[in-house]
Amino acid sequence: MSDLILRAPEERDIPALHEMILRPAVQWGTGRLPWQRADWVAERVRARTEGVHSLVAEKDGRVVGWTTLTRGPDRRSHSGSLAITVHDLHHRQGIGRALMAAILDLADSWLGLIRTELEVNLDNHGAIALYRAFGFEDEGIRRASLLRDGVYVDSLLMGRLIAPRPLASQLPGFATTSDGSEDGA
Ligand SMILES: CC(C)(COP(=O)(O)OP(=O)(O)OC[C@H]1O[C@@H](n2cnc3c(N)ncnc32)[C@H](O)[C@@H]1OP(=O)(O)O)[C@@H](O)C(=O)NCCC(=O)NCCS
Repeated sequence: MSDLILRAPEERDIPALHEMILRPAVQWGTGRLPWQRADWVAERVRARTEGVHSLVAEKDGRVVGWTTLTRGPDRRSHSGSLAITVHDLHHRQGIGRALMAAILDLADSWLGLIRTELEVNLDNHGAIALYRAFGFEDEGIRRASLLRDGVYVDSLLMGRLIAPRPLASQLPGFATTSDGSEDGA
């Protein structure tokens, strides 16, 4: 995947992101309405909402994937919920895997979240396989959770817990300086 660039979304990505969320397989797998306006995307790209972190995947100069992590408020601030979308002409090319790895690294190692969670249509077997590969476990079924093209579909709640990250002073190789003070450099 040498030609894949992961980065924060920019204003210039709005048309490609809008086109992507209207794709048939994306509509099928996500919970948005058909005919979603470009404004909906623009608001999310432009907003600097505390606790909301997005990444896009760019291939050959065009955005083909998007993931968002939303940190929980107050007593849920140790957790974050995830959403991910890849353009349906680019499925099974490793883009979802690359986005998941990057957003989970952000969650685990930079934001210090110990719980990540998501909700996925129960018949979205590809997405469920991807999530299981990253350690998400089934936590429950939400029945008739979503109306999709005239049919109610169940959704699967999934969660992933990790141990809190260590203190630098607990790591091997942590140095103590000659004056007795600790130096993690
Ligand atoms: C789910 C989704 C994000 C996966 O993205 P992707 O870029 O196609 O996934 P990757 O190519 O990185 O696949 C990684 C792994 O996930 C699993 N996987 C992904 N799609 C799969 C499918 N259709 N069937 C079976 N396994 C699948 C496989 O284990 C795959 O590894 P492999 O290709 O080595 O077998 C993408 O299909 C998508 O955006 N779908 C539409 C929107 C959607 O459903 N979003 C999820 C909402 S909860």
